[in-house]
Amino acid sequence: MRTQVGIVGAGPAGLTLGRLLERAGIENVILESRSRDHVEHRIRAGVLEQGTADLLVEAGVGERMQREGIVHHGIELQFDGERHRVPLSELTGGRSIVIYGQTEVVKDLIAARLESGSPLHFEVEDVSLHDLEEHPRIRFGGEELECDLVAGCDGFHGVSRPSIPPGVLRIYEREYPYGWLGILAAVAPSSDELVYAHHERGFALLSLRSPELSRLYVQVRHDEDVAEWPDDRVWEELRTRVGPLTRGPVLEKGVTGMRSFVAEPMQYGRLYLAGDAAHIVPPTGAKGLNLAIADVKILAEAIVAWYESGDRARLDGYSDACLRRVWRAEHFSYWMTSMLHRDDDAGEFGRMLQLSQLRYVTTSTAAATSLAENYVGLERV
Ligand code: APR
Ligand code: PHB
Repeated sequence: MRTQVGIVGAGPAGLTLGRLLERAGIENVILESRSRDHVEHRIRAGVLEQGTADLLVEAGVGERMQREGIVHHGIELQFDGERHRVPLSELTGGRSIVIYGQTEVVKDLIAARLESGSPLHFEVEDVSLHDLEEHPRIRFGGEELECDLVAGCDGFHGVSRPSIPPGVLRIYEREYPYGWLGILAAVAPSSDELVYAHHERGFALLSLRSPELSRLYVQVRHDEDVAEWPDDRVWEELRTRVGPLTRGPVLEKGVTGMRSFVAEPMQYGRLYLAGDAAHIVPPTGAKGLNLAIADVKILAEAIVAWYESGDRARLDGYSDACLRRVWRAEHFSYWMTSMLHRDDDAGEFGRMLQLSQLRYVTTSTAAATSLAENYVGLERV
């Protein structure tokens, strides 16, 4: 078998790349190790930057998002028991965010792919990458796919990054000593906008997926056992940290660790990494999905330019072009995380610094603008 671009992974990065290439007339095959059902029901983030939403519309997969996504013009920061609104749109010349689950983005992309008839294989086994320098080949389930280029869109635990020979990549990494316990609840959100709460017992976040679905988080230990958190305890902890809220049936519950990670460069030979395969941010800045989409936009344009002109310049510049945005998002996510979470190692001194920083971003227009422009997504980085 032969194709132009072999794409490993059918998450937001792989599916969006496949879509963009297909629209440009470039043949591609997507290989995914999980089942379609698994991929479509994995609960993930839900905040789209304006640039991400625009790209989905341009790619012809934004119709349901435009109908069902909820546009937000601000977020709330809560500390010392009070909420302070950060008016995102006012501070960024009218830009906004769209609340629309990653799960829904993935469903829309898969539906479009199946309709177009381009190859998308689920539950492929034993994926391995070969001869990445010259004539890349992807082996899977006893078959072999020859490609001009390979896109490694297989997430943090995929095979693409580990297929790069030792010594090529430089890894930058930081782990946080806490995690988030998240629930999805069948109840109308108790706040119109997202609430990021700093509390002496730890961070909490009120978010949503739709007018009927709330998504809520509390900071816990990174190795916290979900079994120790019956629903009542979660609701009680949320009430303590953010104030009164309407309870409802809990549909999902899980613990996520927090990590910052960057692998440089995001390319080796004819393999290009995109999304979580190359970088991870802690969820506090809501950047993970947006970074993945920003990567594949740049990658698709570089691939198209290469096929059109034979000029490798854009492909060779792919990693540098992505990493500027990646590092901005790494810093922003780390900064939001450090400002909002309880950190026992930082002690009382650290807590006083956090409160001072929170007061600053909620009273100084300059400081609030910095948060806002990062949150909605910078156009130029
Ligand atoms: N072979 C084929 N597919 C694989 C393999 C493999 N060996 N290993 C992993 N995959 C698949 C996963 O099952 C998953 O569907 O690759 C896909 C990677 O998707 P994501 O993890 O969603 O990563 P990405 O597309 O980069 O999107 C980043 O996801 O984790 C969130 O916060 C993150 O929102 C961000 C987004
Ligand atoms: C979510 O809705 O899951 C969500 C929202 C904002 C974040 C992280 C997660 O910063």
